[in-house]
Amino acid sequence: MPSDISAAAAGTWKLGDLTINRMGFGAMRITANPDRDVAIRVLRRAVELGVNHIDTAAFYRSPGGTLGVGEGPLRFANELIRDAVSPYPEDLVITTKVGPGEAPERGFYQAMTAAELRTQVEENLRQLGRDYLDVVNLRIIKKPGADSVADRFGALSDLRDKGLIRHLGISNVRLDHLDEAQAIAPVVCVQNSYAIDTHRDDDTFLPVCGERGIAYVPFFAIAGAEREGGPTVDHSEALQTVADTHDATPAQIRLAWTLHQGPHVLAIPGTGNPAHLEENIAAGAIQLTPEDLASL
Ligand SMILES: NC(=O)c1ccc[n+]([C@@H]2O[C@H](COP(=O)([O-])OP(=O)(O)OC[C@H]3O[C@@H](n4cnc5c(N)ncnc54)[C@H](OP(=O)(O)O)[C@@H]3O)[C@@H](O)[C@H]2O)c1
Repeated sequence: MPSDISAAAAGTWKLGDLTINRMGFGAMRITANPDRDVAIRVLRRAVELGVNHIDTAAFYRSPGGTLGVGEGPLRFANELIRDAVSPYPEDLVITTKVGPGEAPERGFYQAMTAAELRTQVEENLRQLGRDYLDVVNLRIIKKPGADSVADRFGALSDLRDKGLIRHLGISNVRLDHLDEAQAIAPVVCVQNSYAIDTHRDDDTFLPVCGERGIAYVPFFAIAGAEREGGPTVDHSEALQTVADTHDATPAQIRLAWTLHQGPHVLAIPGTGNPAHLEENIAAGAIQLTPEDLASL
């Protein structure tokens, strides 16, 4: 592992007026580490290595949470982020998501009304200890047919106008959702499940985001088909060969491939493991050749 690894190696992108390194960090897995001190250390190290884009959510927590597993103390990703890195560095951009939420009286639920979305935005503000949120994604559950995002995105646009949110994005969406949202307010990012061997139907959506100056932010780039289950070990022979050529791990090549899909494509790998964090950030410096990319 090189000693000078930096999240800046893969270059920068602008989310609206906020410049970030394309190699970021996803906070969903940080609560899976039962050792709070290690979780804090991973977050601090990420920032030390130049990560200035952290993806999170108020409902990322353990035990249970979106990972649905584990016994242990209650930990919220947002509160770990606050404890680890506040006072926040000026260049740190925290992207959160609303839509899915959790309330004591109803468990996990989908926010469909302006009031519910506002409650979720306020929960993020409280947990993170901030006056406004840098970027908020409206995360939907896609349904065939009539699944307009207009009302919910409009509600978030109102919160943006009120100063509670700086920029908006959408997540788990199709192009028609993006068209709908852009007619209401500027969209700075689209966050979808996408990896070298999953959800390749987004191959046509991804460049459209680039043409419109919108970041495309894949999640499950390492986990792939395993999703919440953890990293996939089902690698193609080509992927393993490219990894061997670059003296890299398959997870690193998955991240490098992600970053080679366009200058507007960002990486937000999630980990609670300090060694994996370093590997993931180092992956931002891997230069895949045209031959590598063709074989992958
Ligand atoms: N918008 C949405 O609906 C949505 C959904 C899911 C996730 N997200 C966001 O996207 C981020 C990325 O997704 P993700 O965290 O689920 O998946 P991921 O980054 O694709 O993979 C994370 C999994 O791979 C392992 N891992 C990480 N780095 C590794 C490495 N170098 N070598 C081997 N294994 C490694 C992690 O375990 P260890 O902890 O052991 O490293 C974890 O099990 C999340 O953290 C979250 O912020 C968004």
